[in-house]
Amino acid sequence: MMDNKCAGQNLSLSAKTALLLEAAPLLTAWFRENVRPLPWRENVTPYSILVSETMLQQTRIEAVMRYYPRFMEAFPRLEDLAAAREEEVLKLWEGLGYYSRARNLRKAAQVCVEELGGKLPETVAQLKKLPGVGAYTAGAVASLAFGEAAPAVDGNVLRILARLTRDERDVLQPAVKKEAEGFLKSVLEQLEAPGPFNEALMELGEMLCLPAGKPRCRQCPLQDLCMALAQGCQEDLPLRGAAKPRRQEKKTLLLLRHQGKVALVKRPEKGLLAGLYAFPLLEGHLGPGDILPWLKSYGIPFGPLQELGTARHVFTHVEWEMKGWETETAEALPGYVYADREEVEARYALPSAFRVFREMI
Ligand code: ADE
Repeated sequence: MMDNKCAGQNLSLSAKTALLLEAAPLLTAWFRENVRPLPWRENVTPYSILVSETMLQQTRIEAVMRYYPRFMEAFPRLEDLAAAREEEVLKLWEGLGYYSRARNLRKAAQVCVEELGGKLPETVAQLKKLPGVGAYTAGAVASLAFGEAAPAVDGNVLRILARLTRDERDVLQPAVKKEAEGFLKSVLEQLEAPGPFNEALMELGEMLCLPAGKPRCRQCPLQDLCMALAQGCQEDLPLRGAAKPRRQEKKTLLLLRHQGKVALVKRPEKGLLAGLYAFPLLEGHLGPGDILPWLKSYGIPFGPLQELGTARHVFTHVEWEMKGWETETAEALPGYVYADREEVEARYALPSAFRVFREMI
């Protein structure tokens, strides 16, 4: 609870619906006049919407602007993605993060091609049955591609709603999102064009109703309706409960060289960075006393062990602190693939977590 100027009654659902209905024409007019020429706004198809909305989750627009055109060039149609090898898809996703999105997108394309006559389903209910397609993506595709009155609620939309309706509840609570989906649906059902309304909301969240206390209210088409702005508390909203602290993990990373190449290993099919390539990793921060016996167990001669320094990588729920060591072995160690810099560039999806050590190949 806030005891400051933002504290207030949570509006009734009917008042929220009425407020959004009043906002809708202002919002869509603003969007029409200010629409940005983004790559996924050219040659729009249901498939292109599925790809762009999947990429845009948790990811900055600037990053997606680089990845999306390459991806669509490689896989212009649903059938192309369905026929691709998983490693090819992951390679084009390399550096974008949340790689299960890419694996699921390919699987979703396969379901469409193999079971649904080569087309994406047209309703939220059917779209949600595809691998990796949740309420947000299903709502975005159903509304933008097929005109269904379906909400697409992400963090941007929750932030806008918290400010517009001066809602001081924790936006990370599932109940807040569920409520938003409920009243947005009734708003969308009363609009002629649900797709543009949803896209305009996304755009407002990215261009004006910015997070971290930086809203550009003077340019906002909804400034006269915004209840947070009326109270001067727009920078204090939305409220978010404290996130769980990330688990800290120490790793020892090995740069094992052989004939100008380095050892890489494909990660397991489940879990963090599933299906991507990695340098060999050992648990904990090990010193030569532990690494040398590990190397000796292969029975292959190796050169001196040298320290490479440390690197940190922050994932959503875990943080890796990596300490690197390198050595040259007289033969390739079994169980690894060996690649030089060019081969890594061309073939192996090596995630950004390893950026520092990748530079050393
Ligand atoms: N963010 C998510 N989806 C978007 C879209 N279609 N346009 C702009 N920003 C978005």
